[in-house]
Amino acid sequence: MYLTREEEQILGGAIGEGMQKAMELLVAIGDAWDAQEMIPIVRAHAAPGYEGDMYFIELLGKGKDQCKVPTTTNPLYDTEYFSSLFEIPEKEDEVIRRVVLGYKKIGAIPTSCCTPYLNENIPLYGENVAFSESSASCYVNSVIGARTNREAVQSATAAAVIGKTPKYGLHLKENRKGTFLVKVKATIRDEFDFGLLGYYVGKHIGCKIPVIAGLSRRPVTEELVNLSAMLNTTGAVSMFHIPEFTIEAPTLQEAFQGDTPEDRITVTDAELEEANEELQATTGTIDLVMLGCPHYTLRQIGQVARLLKGRKINRNVSFWICTSATSRLLAERSGYLDIIERAGGRVCKDTCAPDAPCWHVYRDKIGITDSPKCSYYRRFKEAGVMRLKDCVRTAIRGKSI
Ligand code: F3S
Repeated sequence: MYLTREEEQILGGAIGEGMQKAMELLVAIGDAWDAQEMIPIVRAHAAPGYEGDMYFIELLGKGKDQCKVPTTTNPLYDTEYFSSLFEIPEKEDEVIRRVVLGYKKIGAIPTSCCTPYLNENIPLYGENVAFSESSASCYVNSVIGARTNREAVQSATAAAVIGKTPKYGLHLKENRKGTFLVKVKATIRDEFDFGLLGYYVGKHIGCKIPVIAGLSRRPVTEELVNLSAMLNTTGAVSMFHIPEFTIEAPTLQEAFQGDTPEDRITVTDAELEEANEELQATTGTIDLVMLGCPHYTLRQIGQVARLLKGRKINRNVSFWICTSATSRLLAERSGYLDIIERAGGRVCKDTCAPDAPCWHVYRDKIGITDSPKCSYYRRFKEAGVMRLKDCVRTAIRGKSI
């Protein structure tokens, strides 16, 4: 890969070990993908993990390196809040604090949210960005038409401090064409069905770019968020097109950039039902309900509040909604929080719904969720997946309907 004089100097260690490591990482990726050069990025989103990320982020912090572009962070968990509820091992708490502090030190915006593209870090059409996180990378490519590869936390962080990324993959127009035709004949009613569609298609097409044809109406934001999250969970789908609705696919032909699809599948009600049945791991009494994977929007929190208004969640059931700090604040101002808390539920910020260590307390418990992704990564024992209104009804009864 061609490097400018400045890039060569960074690679040689002229401005410190952290920046050198960041550049080494980007150059290795660029070489592996035959990139010709680096290109500037406009923004980044890093999805930090735990011990694995501490070394790199603390190395950058030690060198006083700073993000060159607005960079947001994915959820870990709200240590202060959960320490007041559960017993959190000292070591675990320390890891989270150090990672969060590390990102703050390099100037990242501590959103701790997995849908930053809806609120705090919204790319524009055509921008080159470096986004990790499954729904985020897929959504910004497909819906917004920004350009990102499916970054890991380290590559997104490296791109953030260097301000550049290797030019390959989805940064090039020719690689953004659809390769797989998905004909939808199923009835797709709501965001739950979009999640099932993503679950089924991701599983069957792996890492291709699906062109999803046959939808009878324009999808809404939350439906596209769920579709993105699930395509990139059961599959490794960084981008999709919906002809007439997503930005780079005004027509079916343009979605395929004039080519013919490599392969095709048809999704009818039977395939969606098959996906739904695969996700029904539990019946009978439940211990918890987990919503907000991906993080719930204000509209979704409002839906829960309307379903719970004047009702009581069964006292043996823990009821959780995960969301961003921004949406939680707005839910409080809108009166939704009050309704949900009166019913016995909790709305938490900064926390990954299935995968934060604080959920260890539920490791032997039976849960339900409206998210196939939550079920996939869950830390609790079993999970049934059902529509939001059925999750709420089950929470009130304390057992599956
Ligand atoms: Fe978000 Fe965690 Fe689900 S990062 S999409 S809540 S797995």
